[in-house]
Parts: sequence; structure tokens; C-alpha cells
Amino acid sequence: KPQGLDASKLTVEKTTKPKPLKKAEELVFGQAFTDHMLSVEWNKDAGWLAPKITPYQNLSLDPASSVFHYAFECFEGMKAYKDKAGQIRLFRPDRNMERLNKSAARIALPNFDPSTLLDLIAELVKLDSRFIPEQRGYSLYLRPTMIGTQKTLGVGAPGSALLYVIASPVGPYYPTGFKAISLEATDYAVRAWPGGVGDKKLGANYAPCIVPQREAMSRGFQQNLWLFGDEQFVTEVGTMNMFVALRNKDTGANELLTAPLDGTILEGVTRDSVLALAREKLVPEGWNIVERKYTMQELSDAADEGRFLEAFGSGTAAIVSPVRSISWKGKLVDCGLKPHEESGELATKMKGWIEARQYGDEEHEWSYTC
Ligand code: COI
Repeated sequence: KPQGLDASKLTVEKTTKPKPLKKAEELVFGQAFTDHMLSVEWNKDAGWLAPKITPYQNLSLDPASSVFHYAFECFEGMKAYKDKAGQIRLFRPDRNMERLNKSAARIALPNFDPSTLLDLIAELVKLDSRFIPEQRGYSLYLRPTMIGTQKTLGVGAPGSALLYVIASPVGPYYPTGFKAISLEATDYAVRAWPGGVGDKKLGANYAPCIVPQREAMSRGFQQNLWLFGDEQFVTEVGTMNMFVALRNKDTGANELLTAPLDGTILEGVTRDSVLALAREKLVPEGWNIVERKYTMQELSDAADEGRFLEAFGSGTAAIVSPVRSISWKGKLVDCGLKPHEESGELATKMKGWIEARQYGDEEHEWSYTC
């Protein structure tokens, strides 16, 4: 009978060559890695084999491995923080475990017991805790990854897989810091479609993002904005979920809008956190928090009528990323910031509220102590 993931079988081989720590200011997102990694092999007969923490090292894979041919790969992005007392904390890690299982299931990779993987990740993070920067805005980015390792060119469910977790000390996602970005609405490519896999964290969803982003950059914008359909619904920004704050035309009430989870939108942990915090803290101030489809035309009208309050992207890497303007159909839609502002009030507050729970300044159930 195939075995489930078993943390009691964990073996730990410590490195004999500890890496020097980089200065926080020198960290570039995802370039430096810690001393160790976690890996667990799976095959369809034995199930999950004994988990291993080993020195960070290359993988050795047969060139026929299914990951290289048919994109059997899914991943997660999550972060570990050090609080004021030096305790290690993860932020809503149960969400990442759940989503990794959903992504894996969609591409015929195996599932695992979520709390067992979380225990194993906590062991890795504790072992490499010296790599968690203490400064605000810095953290240890964790990258759980699952790949199909079946050595065959036949297209089928992989009979073997590898689950591994690597860790990278990171600072602010954009080297320019917390600054408003300008977007170009992409009109020649779509990120996801109904019935597709845009709501899963598959590597295959990310490679096709680069060309539109590079195109946007070549015309002086930092990121691209993904639209969908003839209606030009706003869906996501680059690799982040998108939020807009508008004053409602009819009621005059302030609204925070984001696209609904209809299968084309990544189920962002930060997206969910923004919505929950907005419902908790902004609704009492009279805001409406709305998950619905909205179009580029609506945003353009709101800008023309002075009702566009602000816009920001949300994701684990950047947390919130304020947006200054969107280039669309040859015009520049102004998202409401004053020329000297790098962030709107809402994005600034949201960043603070989220960080308070990530760094454990505010004791909250979202914060998981290792
Ligand atoms: C995020 O956390 O915002 C992302 O999805 C980016 C990540 C793939 C580096």
C-alpha cells in the first residue's frame, strides 16, 4: 500500500560548507539560497519515501523526465519572518499547502498531507534560520516545488515525482523599492481563460508572461495588465492579483474591487488577506468590498470623472504594488495618485496591516509560529 508523507522518517544531513550571509542591501529577489533544501521522492507503488534535508545541491534527472517535456511542474511562494523576539513565523502557510495540492492534482501529480509538509518546511526553516533577515521588508522566501520525474516520453500521469523546497533570503521585490508602477494593458495575448488552469500555480502559466512584460517595458511601462474577452475585463497585473478603488458613480460610496475567483484568477493568499482586512477595517468606514468582473472601460470612465481613487497589485513577493497609470487603447488612464505620491492611502495602509501580521507585531491566527 503506498505510504503517506511521514515527517517522523525525516533525515537531516547538515552542510559542511556554510555559506556566508549576504548583506540585506545586496539581496536580489530569488538569487541567493540557504545552506539546505528539503526533498521527498514519490512513486506510485511505494507512495512518499523518507523526507530528506540535505545541503542545497543540484538535482540529477533523466533527460526524459516528464517535467522537461510536458511541464509537470507546480510551485508555491510563501515567506518566513523573524519577529521582534527572534521567533520564526510563517504567514498563512496552510493556504499554500492547500493550493499546492490543488495545483498538483490538476496535473496528475500526487497529493500529500498538508500539515505534514508544513512540519517538514518548519524544520528546514529552523535549520536555516540564520538566513532570515530581521529588517522590516525582508524575509525568507520559500519555494515548494513539485515535478514529475517519470522517465518516459509517453504522455501520461507521472509514476514518479519529486517534491522539494528551497529557500531564498529576499528584500523588497522591486529593486526600486515601494514605488508606483505604470502598466500597459495587453491587447494581443490572454493569461487565462474559462476552463483553463489560470487559477493553479503551474510553472507553465508563468513562462508566457515574460514576452508581454518585456513588450510593455520596451515602451516604457514596468508591467503588463492582463485583460480578458471582448468586454476587456481586467484580470491580473503581471504575476499579481489586481485591486482598484473607485467612487461609485450612482451611490458615491467608495468601493474596493477585484476580479472574482471564476477559475481564471490565481487564488492569491495575499489577495485573500487584502479582502479580509478590507472587510474588517474598511467596511466600518463605509467602504464596499466587491468581488466582481470589471472592465477597462469602467476604469477609464472613473478616471475621466475623477472617481478613480487608486490601484494596486497584490502578491506574496511584493505584498502590494501601487499602480500609477494604465496605458490602454492609446490613452493613459490615471489611477488617482498625485504626481509626487508613490502609493495611495489604501495600499500604504494595507501593506502595514499585512506586515503587522506577517512579522507578528499583531498576534493573529494567520501567523504560524515555527
Ligand atoms: C507573487 O508572489 O506575486 C508571484 O506570483 C511572483 C512569484 C512567482 C515570484
